[in-house]
Amino acid sequence: MTAVGIDQIGVYTPAQYIETTELAKRRQVDPNKFTIGIGQDQMAVPNPTTDIVSMGANAARVFLSKVDTSKIGLLIVGTESGIDQSKASALFIKSILNLPNEMRAFEIKEACFGATAGIMTAQDYVKSHPGKTALVIASDISRYGLNSGGEVTQGAGAVAMLISEHPRILEFLPQSASYSDDVNDFWRPNYSATAFVDGKYSTEKYLEFFTHTFNDYLKQTNLKVADFEALTYHLPFTKMGIKAQRLAVEGQSDKTQTRLSRHFEESAKYCRQIGNLYTGSLYLSLVSLLHHKNLKSGDLIGLYSYGSGSVAEFFAGHLVNGYQNQLSANQMADFITSRQLLSIDEYEAIYTECGKIRTDDYELMPEAVVSDGEVYFAGVKDHLRQYKVKG
Ligand code: CAA
Repeated sequence: MTAVGIDQIGVYTPAQYIETTELAKRRQVDPNKFTIGIGQDQMAVPNPTTDIVSMGANAARVFLSKVDTSKIGLLIVGTESGIDQSKASALFIKSILNLPNEMRAFEIKEACFGATAGIMTAQDYVKSHPGKTALVIASDISRYGLNSGGEVTQGAGAVAMLISEHPRILEFLPQSASYSDDVNDFWRPNYSATAFVDGKYSTEKYLEFFTHTFNDYLKQTNLKVADFEALTYHLPFTKMGIKAQRLAVEGQSDKTQTRLSRHFEESAKYCRQIGNLYTGSLYLSLVSLLHHKNLKSGDLIGLYSYGSGSVAEFFAGHLVNGYQNQLSANQMADFITSRQLLSIDEYEAIYTECGKIRTDDYELMPEAVVSDGEVYFAGVKDHLRQYKVKG
């Protein structure tokens, strides 16, 4: 059977952030609740020139010059922060990236599961179209509202992945275990700019679905927990993953528990610094693990994806020899430390500005705000969103 998996992976996140301890002080909450109880240290703050298209395009540009774009026959964007009710964000991104017309390009929605649905579809596509590759992009802005219970678990960013035969980073195993049920734990009606969430119920369902899919996966594959070098999780906030990790390692030897816990910490570092990426969260955890730990080729990594509503899937892959050469770990580390720290007043002003629903034409200049990436949202003309590339 042809080996299929992640050949390239790129991350994009806004260049401004806040410290959650400062947010806690302003909201009159014990800072330990945010940093220890919920497990978030910092939160990325998108500005008005940032949306899912600009972030998705910027994430793909991390590696696009290294790949043959004429082979990309499928482009899928997983998102729950859509910018249009009809036209797919994938088409805006295809145009910005100058990708070939000979492709399928569309958007998938199922809460945070959208990108995983894209990856599963991409694997089938690559297997049935020898020589072709697929670009899957997860891109989201997580908004619960100022002063809301979920505020500290917001964030923004995109992860782009090239799925191909003979991948250079992670080779997927053919099995996967999925589980779905009609659950009202998180949703966003068309008239609302912010999500409705029952956070505790959501955690309960996330854990229940983890147990179903993980056990099913072990049964299907005859693998044991100890066979995994690391387990990575969808991480809306790091405490949620810690709870799933506790279930996974229950009853395991000290050696397995210690290894999986250490790798969990490495996989959660970017989430602690950026926040919730919704569709991209699981893949940010994978990147975080690979950037913070030098693992061996052949090591088995588990991936748990969960999207409210709810759909979950557990799948896994082996690291490929030389995978380290495909990553941009130093670039990401430099970027994280060079981000601009915002005061809570500045964050609130930007947040309010981004939440305004405008129906008029307008132009945004990148100089007017700290414009995040090379690709930015430049405003609206004749009801059409405009994107520009700097330089
Ligand atoms: N020091 C240390 N720990 C403290 C503390 C202190 N001073 N004060 C409280 N804590 C701990 C609590 O003990 C609790 O720990 P446990 O979870 O281990 O019990 C934790 O901090 C949180 O405390 P509360 O439960 O009292 O906090 P809360 O009522 O403010 O709710 C929350 C927290 C549920 C995470 C809330 O912030 C929320 O609803 N966030 C959004 C929920 C979310 O992201 N859900 C994920 C949905 S899935 C997804 O990503 C969406 C999708 O598919 C679209």
